[in-house]
Amino acid sequence: MIIDGKQAAADLRVALAIEVKKLKESKGITPSLTVILVGKDPASQVYVRNKAKQTIEVGMISNEIRLPDTTSQEELLNQLSVLNNDNSVHGILVQLPLPKHIDESVVIAAINPEKDVDGFHAMNSGRLLNGEDGALVPCTPQGCIILAKQHLGDDLSGKHAVVIGRSNIVGKPVALLLLQENCTVTIAHSRTKNLAQVCQQADILVAAVGRAEFVKADWVKKGATVIDVGINRIENTETGKAKLVGDVDFTAVNDVCGAITPVPGGVGPMTIACLLKNTLEAARRQSANL
Ligand code: GUN
Repeated sequence: MIIDGKQAAADLRVALAIEVKKLKESKGITPSLTVILVGKDPASQVYVRNKAKQTIEVGMISNEIRLPDTTSQEELLNQLSVLNNDNSVHGILVQLPLPKHIDESVVIAAINPEKDVDGFHAMNSGRLLNGEDGALVPCTPQGCIILAKQHLGDDLSGKHAVVIGRSNIVGKPVALLLLQENCTVTIAHSRTKNLAQVCQQADILVAAVGRAEFVKADWVKKGATVIDVGINRIENTETGKAKLVGDVDFTAVNDVCGAITPVPGGVGPMTIACLLKNTLEAARRQSANL
């Protein structure tokens, strides 16, 4: 079975639009998201455009701040300070990657944690680690859990989840979310020995390694749920055109697994939908104090 992330994301946006309308009617507040893009990275430009479009579609306010790639770290931090102190801004996202002369960790640390809709600030990752209420949780990991539950139902307890990848953006937070769902969690990575055998244990296999078609059919247990986070651009040698593929060898694995997310149209669309969910959540919390 193919898990349709595009449809799941569209459904989530419909539900969010209803909640946005309610917040407007009850409190007079329209959630607003400000995205900062430094430089002209082509992939980032596409992401930022899609974010703005979907933010507006669910009835939220979208602001974009585009800065030249010569922007200094200090200028970026000053900009963040203005947004942190602006009550009309509920969510702030700094598009990554940043130009080399800017330290991403310093920038992330400078975002007000209550407005950190990416969930990358140490305050939010700490809250997630401790299982505390009030964490803004990274968007792609949230999307992975929603899609896994769509196939398996809400109760994931006791399932063995294997996550390949240990990044702060996907691998680590998705592992924590799966643990919160009472899964038995293994985090595998580039130094893992016998990776194929480790993956064969998985009831839920999350691939977030960034290597095209890395996960092969004989790594996957029959009936497993496969969540493919990879977005890799490869050249089609026959047509010469670029195409997107995941971290999983989709065609071969699809014959073995119980369900799989496609690329494109799987986890990708869920990321922006969950970003909007976080923006609504941030706006609700900030307006609760008014
Ligand atoms: N670049 C690629 N993915 C992401 C993301 O989830 N958040 C941000 N801020 N930048 C990204």
